[in-house]
Amino acid sequence: MIGRLNHVAIAVPDLTAASATYRDMLGAVLSDAVPQPDHGVTTVFIELPNTKIELLEPLGAESPIAKFLERNPNGGIHHICYEVDDIGAAARSLVEKGARILGDGTPKIGAHGKPVLFLHPKDFCGTLVELEQA
Ligand code: CO
Repeated sequence: MIGRLNHVAIAVPDLTAASATYRDMLGAVLSDAVPQPDHGVTTVFIELPNTKIELLEPLGAESPIAKFLERNPNGGIHHICYEVDDIGAAARSLVEKGARILGDGTPKIGAHGKPVLFLHPKDFCGTLVELEQA
């Protein structure tokens, strides 16, 4: 089921400062900042040769990363995203095996325009896992 690592998402309190760190210290090539009101975040994408990094800054009062940043005021790794060939089949198989899917359990369109779902960190070694349709 599990496929390529699609991205690692890092929540940051200040997207401009985080972007400057990746650009100036690490020589990363960054996308423009993209507000994603449906997801409550503003994102900057960093393309690496083998995967992507996404810097996430809260957008709006209901941002899903606000609580994470309260607990981790300097930012931190928020989730990792694996690709799966068939997200519907993956969801059914995971539920059968006792994993918990966040929200109403059905895939939603994610930040890349593809169906995604999130798995409960308590079921996956303390890490929030996103699955994305490849
Ligand atoms: Co993600």
